[in-house]
Amino acid sequence: MTLAELENNKAECLAEIAAASDAAVVEALRVKYVGRNGSIPALIKGMKDVPKEERPAFGKAVQAWRAEAEAALAAKGGGASGEKPVDADLTLPGRWWRLGVKHPLSRVIEETAQVFGRLGFTVADGPELENRFNNFTALNTPAHHPSMDRSDTFWFGEDCLLRTQTSPVQIRTMQANRPPVRVICPGRTYRRDTTDATHSANFHQIEGLYVDTKPVSLADLKSVLAYFAKEMMGSGVTVRFRPHFFPFTEPSVEVDFSCHVCKGKGCSVCKQSGWIEVAGAGMVDPRVFKFVGYDPKEVSGYAFGFGVERIAMIKYGISDIRWLYENDIRFLGQLG
Ligand code: PHE
Repeated sequence: MTLAELENNKAECLAEIAAASDAAVVEALRVKYVGRNGSIPALIKGMKDVPKEERPAFGKAVQAWRAEAEAALAAKGGGASGEKPVDADLTLPGRWWRLGVKHPLSRVIEETAQVFGRLGFTVADGPELENRFNNFTALNTPAHHPSMDRSDTFWFGEDCLLRTQTSPVQIRTMQANRPPVRVICPGRTYRRDTTDATHSANFHQIEGLYVDTKPVSLADLKSVLAYFAKEMMGSGVTVRFRPHFFPFTEPSVEVDFSCHVCKGKGCSVCKQSGWIEVAGAGMVDPRVFKFVGYDPKEVSGYAFGFGVERIAMIKYGISDIRWLYENDIRFLGQLG
């Protein structure tokens, strides 16, 4: 199209708009000329084919045509979207809305539930305010055990305490269900710790429990935790067990993941050891089965307990646990 032809078409277009007598005609003309597939946008799209030296003048003429057509349509009660056009600079950048992000602790809990969900585990829940039986006695913890001390545990009278671990949910789950039992239990836990970079009086754990009437072995536990390690931290991460003691598991182990940062070579994250401690675990002690009314001759199982903060800190490279509780948007926003 030449400039002269363009001017002709423009005159024709403006005349048509001027003659339009009702809203339907105005709308049809809007679609015909300035709509998404209208002739003016088509001209703009075709600009690249206009000879270079004519392009500036042609461009100006097209823009003028559009402005006049839109003004004429608006005057007739039409507009870009059938409404009066807004006086806005469409080239301005859009307004930026900060999208909410999930807290790292919530993410770890959700991801863990997904990973174990694929292995047939469901999520169980229990109260944060527990009794002595569920938090200690049924977990085979002797009455003189230091963890029961007033200096370690928040007690409310003789029989009521803020749970020091998620393990009491093991007891509640077994009391309420017959085997097979396959659950994870995420939740808040409390200990009288002084807060520093790696301790907090209120933290989170994820308990795991599998009990079945067919034999369950330490190798089963290891394979499940190895799967979890790879899903959570990356495919190269492996698991090792170190002998340990918990009153409610026998044998008991501490669980290390190979360091996902240095791949086990040794770095500042794993304190040069190549390994990071993440959980306590073991085979459920027969005495625990007796406390919940299971026959230890008929059932066997394993249990494990992760520190959620610990996993979050190594997964996201967080050096101070306190960041996880301060809700500083500058910190949380980085994980978006
Ligand atoms: N409850 C233990 C702790 O808080 C962890 C654990 C859970 C150990 C399950 C063994 C089995 O340290």
